[in-house]
Order: sequence, then C-alpha cells, then structure tokens
Amino acid sequence: MEKIRWGILATGWIADQLAEAITSQRDAECLAVGSRSQASADAFGEKWHIPRRYPTYEALAADPDVDVIYIATPHNLHYENMKLCLNAGKHVLCEKPLTVNAAQAKECLELAKEKGLFLMEAMWMKFIPAVQQMQKWVADGRIGTVRLVQANFAFNIPFDPHGRLYDPELAGGALLDMGIYTSTLAHLVLGKPDSILSAANLGETGVDELNTAIWQYADGTQAVLTSTQRLERPCDAFITGTDGYIKLHSNFWHSRKLTLKQRGQAKEVVQIPYDGNGYGYQVREVHDCLRAGKLESAVVPHADTLEIMTLLDEMRGQWGLVYPEE
Ligand SMILES: NC(=O)c1ccc[n+]([C@@H]2O[C@H](COP(=O)([O-])OP(=O)(O)OC[C@H]3O[C@@H](n4cnc5c(N)ncnc54)[C@H](OP(=O)(O)O)[C@@H]3O)[C@@H](O)[C@H]2O)c1
Repeated sequence: MEKIRWGILATGWIADQLAEAITSQRDAECLAVGSRSQASADAFGEKWHIPRRYPTYEALAADPDVDVIYIATPHNLHYENMKLCLNAGKHVLCEKPLTVNAAQAKECLELAKEKGLFLMEAMWMKFIPAVQQMQKWVADGRIGTVRLVQANFAFNIPFDPHGRLYDPELAGGALLDMGIYTSTLAHLVLGKPDSILSAANLGETGVDELNTAIWQYADGTQAVLTSTQRLERPCDAFITGTDGYIKLHSNFWHSRKLTLKQRGQAKEVVQIPYDGNGYGYQVREVHDCLRAGKLESAVVPHADTLEIMTLLDEMRGQWGLVYPEE
C-alpha cells in the first residue's frame, strides 16, 4: 500500500503529539515540516526523522509531494493557514477549533469542497473508544432518554498576557480552547440547543477565563457546560437520562474509564484504554477517508463543525467578546 505523505505545519506542543501519532502509523510517512524558523523546523525534523524541513508555511504548502497537511498553529492562524494549504491543493487536518468564528469556518469548508479536497477539524475526542462506548450505551437506551449533559474543562494555567490562552491576538480564552470540547460533547449527545444562556468572566486581557453555558432544549433537556483556564477541578462529564447516568471520568475528552449507573442496579465501572497517545485514531480516519476518496469524515462532518462554531459565536456574542481580527 502506498504511504500517505504528511506535512506538519508548526512545531509546538500539539504538533509533537501528532508527529508521534503519524509516525506510529504503518501507512504514513511524515515527509515535511514547516515552521516560522529554519531552526525550529530542523529541530522538529531531527526529533521525528522528517526529511524535508521548511522555514516558512508557504514552502511547506508548495511541496508537490505532500498529500495532506496537519495545521497546529494558534486558533487565530487556522483560517489563513487552511486557505494557504487548500489553495495549494493539499488535503487538511486542522486543529480545533477549526477557526475563530463560524464565518471563517464556512469559508474554509466551502473552499475545500470547491477544490475537491478533504478537510477535517482535529476533534480527536470523537474517536476515543470510551466516548464511542458512551454513545453506544446512550443509543441502546441504557440510561433512558437523556435529559442532562454536564461537562467541565478546568485547568489553572499561569497568567501570561502574551501566552496563547490569554492573548486576544491569538484568540485566547477558555471557550475556544477548552469549551470546544464541552460544546462538542453536548452537541454529540443532544444536537443543537433551542436557546443558550451563557456568562463569562473576562480577565485583564479581555478574554474569557471562566465561562458557563446552559443549553436549553424545547423538551426541557439541558446541558450545563463550564470551561476555565483559572481554576482546577476534575474534568469529568455526566450524561444523565431518565433511567440512569454515564460518567466519563477525567479527562472526559480522552477518558479511559466510564461508570454506568442504571436505575435499580449497581454501578458498573469499565476501563476502556486507547491506543498510543490517543491521537492516532483521527490520523487513521484521515487515511481511510483519503483512500476512499471522501472529502469529509462521517465522524466529524462539516455540518457539525460549522454548527458548533455557530454556537460558540452565540456564547461569545452574549459576553461581548470580539477578537481583534473580527
Ligand atoms: N487536540 C488537542 O489535544 C490539543 C491540545 C493542545 C492544543 N491544541 C490546539 O493546537 C493548536 C496549537 O496549540 P499548542 O498548544 O500546540 O500551541 P503552541 O505550543 O504554542 O504551538 C503553536 C505553534 O504555532 C506556531 N505559531 C505561529 N505563529 C505563532 C504565534 N504568533 N505565536 C505562537 N505560536 C505561533 C509556532 O510554531 P513554529 O514556530 O514552528 O511556526 C508554535 O510552536 C491550538 O489551536 C490548540 O487549540 C489541541
């Protein structure tokens, strides 16, 4: 089988995780890396045995032998990086959130379609076996009809006004970085809410450091979602139905442990490990889609990515958080 040839765009923390996941696939070749500097490209290339090392993202996108590019820059750059890669004829796997807002996401998704190229948001949570097991239990009616989803994503990240999570220029804030997971989980189980009530504490750099949203559905179902970069607590999630609940143990977006509690029965605790660092499943999904000639993944479809971005826009709109580029 011919190997799929990857390019990695940027050399930060998550790029390392994906380099590990890509290089562990038998049918993948990490062919090239692009960085803002030759030194970073060289260091990253050395570490992961990547032969082609470029000092610009443009040079990476122009490499005629690269099939698919993984974008691992801060949120605010995804939009321009995706357009660069798609316009150069490359398939794309782009870090979450796909873009800063729904308008940018729509433009990129349309561009991919127009060019006949594959594009997927790197929403690795959806491929994690424990998350898929939770979905199966829900679909099988093990907890009755779901009425409440609660999810917490809470880390205490030291304040740095120029750090990725605090700098508005880099589209910092808890919602886009962490709330994308709580929102995607609620959307996965319940779909689009009929209304949202949301509040946030905007810190001294103007980005949301703590936010909570209540998603309300016409039938009375709710999702209560919190994300914060200023407080630490277990990052668990509960899916509660009329006949029981499922707990996704911390960290819920890559959980390895579920509790199932059905009404009138003892708790069942199940360990569900995942392969490697957990990022390989989405790499395999990209491979499967490319080999099947698909332009989007059925697990992370374009419509869901766009709808979730619209919900994030609505929450930010309620707090008056607008990024400088918007
Ligand atoms: N899926 C996950 O589990 C997960 C986890 C963490 C982050 N993420 C996502 O991945 C993306 C990157 O996060 P990260 O934690 O890897 O960030 P990071 O460690 O700060 O790395 C970001 C990289 O982007 C490049 N970059 C280009 N312009 C930049 C600028 N103005 N400031 C800083 N970096 C710039 C740099 O690479 P070069 O210098 O090589 O160009 C940098 O190393 C974000 O969208 C985030 O939401 C996903």
